[in-house]
Amino acid sequence: MNTKIAPSLLAADFGNLQHDVEMVNQSEADWHHIDVMDGVFVPNISYGMPVIKAIAKHATKPLDVHLMIVDPDRYIKTFAELGADVLTVHYEACTHLHRTLQAIKAEGMQAGVALNPHTNVDLLADTIKDIDVVCLMSVNPGFGGQSFIENTYEKVNALKTLITTKNAKTLIEIDGGVTSLNAKLLTDAGADVLVAGSFVFKSANPTQTIRDLKELAG
Ligand code: DX5
Ligand code: ZN
Repeated sequence: MNTKIAPSLLAADFGNLQHDVEMVNQSEADWHHIDVMDGVFVPNISYGMPVIKAIAKHATKPLDVHLMIVDPDRYIKTFAELGADVLTVHYEACTHLHRTLQAIKAEGMQAGVALNPHTNVDLLADTIKDIDVVCLMSVNPGFGGQSFIENTYEKVNALKTLITTKNAKTLIEIDGGVTSLNAKLLTDAGADVLVAGSFVFKSANPTQTIRDLKELAG
């Protein structure tokens, strides 16, 4: 049972956010996954600082904040103050990724890098030892409820090889379209953290769905 499950609050009931955050608190989930979209990097806007502040007030598990925004350096300090434990930026949004990673760590957070489906994992060869979590997008970022892109398995394998070759300790996170159908295949390939939004929150019993995913993933 080493795989971490990170329910994505993007699929929660925003009219009842406290209820859904507390459901995650009491479940077997490991992290709260928080998706921030700016309407520029991705064609959608999710929520920002006041909502994250409200989530942080009730959350008892680490906050895994996924920034789908341009120029994320502007807000690193703000997210640290909001209580982010893992702060993930997109490779495609960072001109000076190495500098950004150091800035995230300097604020006491774990540094994550997300890769869009078209971005090759080998582009991280020179930074992998500085990255705590690589988030492989298994859908094009911007929306919950999309179908899983099958090429992700190959990317997990390639990333696992890179991490081992470089003797890094990086965790592999998968984000998008995760269900009970692919959870085990992903962890078998080397995934350490599974993000799940719709599959958890649109199910009849989210607590049980988290337990099932955790069990399946092993
Ligand atoms: C997509 C987000 C995901 C999303 C996952 O841009 O980064 O975290 O909430 O949602 P599902 O699990 O519904 O694909
Ligand atoms: Zn996400």
